[in-house]
Amino acid sequence: VGDLERALASVVGAAQVLVDDDVRSGYEVDWTGRFRGRTPAVVRPGSADEVAGVLAVCRSLGAAVVPQGGNTGLVGGGVPLAGEVVLSLRRLATVGPVDRLAAQVTAGAGATLEAVSSAAAPCGLDVGVDLAARGSATIGGMVATNAGGLRHLRHGAMRSAVAGIEAVLADGSVVSHLGGLAKDNTGYDLAGLLCGSEGTLGVVTAVRLRLVPRLGDDLTTALVGFSSVDDALVAMRAAGVLEAAEVMFPSGLALLGTPPVSAPVVVLFEWAGSSPGVPDLPGVLDAAVATSSSQRAALWWWREAHTEAVNRLGPPPHKLDVTLPLGGLSGFVASVPSLVPPGATVVVWGHLADGNLHVNVVGPPPDDDSVDDAVLRAVAAAGGSISAEHGIGTAKKRWLALGRSEAEIAAFRAVKRALDPDGLLNPNVLLP
Ligand code: FAD
Ligand code: MLT
Ligand code: ZN
Repeated sequence: VGDLERALASVVGAAQVLVDDDVRSGYEVDWTGRFRGRTPAVVRPGSADEVAGVLAVCRSLGAAVVPQGGNTGLVGGGVPLAGEVVLSLRRLATVGPVDRLAAQVTAGAGATLEAVSSAAAPCGLDVGVDLAARGSATIGGMVATNAGGLRHLRHGAMRSAVAGIEAVLADGSVVSHLGGLAKDNTGYDLAGLLCGSEGTLGVVTAVRLRLVPRLGDDLTTALVGFSSVDDALVAMRAAGVLEAAEVMFPSGLALLGTPPVSAPVVVLFEWAGSSPGVPDLPGVLDAAVATSSSQRAALWWWREAHTEAVNRLGPPPHKLDVTLPLGGLSGFVASVPSLVPPGATVVVWGHLADGNLHVNVVGPPPDDDSVDDAVLRAVAAAGGSISAEHGIGTAKKRWLALGRSEAEIAAFRAVKRALDPDGLLNPNVLLP
């Protein structure tokens, strides 16, 4: 550790190499508390060149590296499970001037989503991806996980927002392509490759982001009750152009209190401008409609508070973020209780339009992955994906083959070997 610490300090300065137990501990455990490990040091570079210097030191000393942003990831991909050095990107937090004509901005990897959104606001612009962890999740982490979130039905995942990228590869080279040109067919799409690469192919240091028109306050938000998921889907198709369609169930809502709408299935719909008459949608049992921003925030709270409410139950949750074909969503939801061990608490919610359910199971110990196995196999058998938006991380790498063929995984390994032949970058995630 002494040599490593001294060598890292020669790159970033001693103050940016954290080795005290109590300082390191926050970087050693994931947001859910399910995944934890140990690191010899947390290193906090302040520039892309310093990132390159850190990687050179780690390579020469044979120390593997886990990149970490806001540490809000939910698959244990950003924590040092096998003694890796934690490379924290949070100091790369600069947000550049907003280019109003291009509707783009360049942000450091460590800038939070909230910081970039605030910088875009005076220009009437916003980041198209939004999620409840906006105050802590970083742009680099969101690119690395290809985050989806609450506006995916309208603007897609992070990959759609990336117009260019700067990253440091394992050999210390800096690849920078931040021009943000609308058309640019000059070979391989390295930015696209890094989206969803979970810190295994390169360290993202800056991102050129495409922005979208900011919605402002002219929105209508409603919590709408239905008797079944299928009824909710039929209403969603009748609801016109939606800005959000988020699904919840009584078990999750009950963790938060007495919701304004009570029904077997509750959906938060949001429209720009005014809504089509909510009561006229097919199958509606009950509804609460909000137009002022404070009323809207109150309805969104019921949705966004789910994640923290599950963490407050106590034992770390098993978080199974999956996609089902929309036609199979209803049947899958009905089957979930049969997949969970007796006595466990199960809470489900998700992004309805994407067929993306968050199946949260509380009860089984962190390292007992039998419920993960049962749920992920059922998802694969139903034609779904074992990771909708959180990634594979360490939590799901055992099951990668449920969603990817042997040939695909071999191609993944070839890409990994080409860009990181020594296995320096996040060697314990994604690939089984
Ligand atoms: P971290 O957790 O620090 O890291 C995540 C992964 O990215 C790790 O594998 C890490 O090694 C890698 N990484 C981080 N930074 C870099 C970098 N600069 N270069 C290379 N690799 C890097 N996710 C969704 O998709 N949709 C949601 O709606 C959503 N809602 C959430 C709500 C809450 C309350 C919480 C706690 C989480 C939520 N998440 C959601 C998960 C999480 O916020 C996202 O995965 C987010 O993209 C992680 O960003 P981060 O900066 O915290 O990354
Ligand atoms: C969400 O949509 O709430 C997030 O993806 C976080 C979670 O699954 O807990
Ligand atoms: Zn989600």
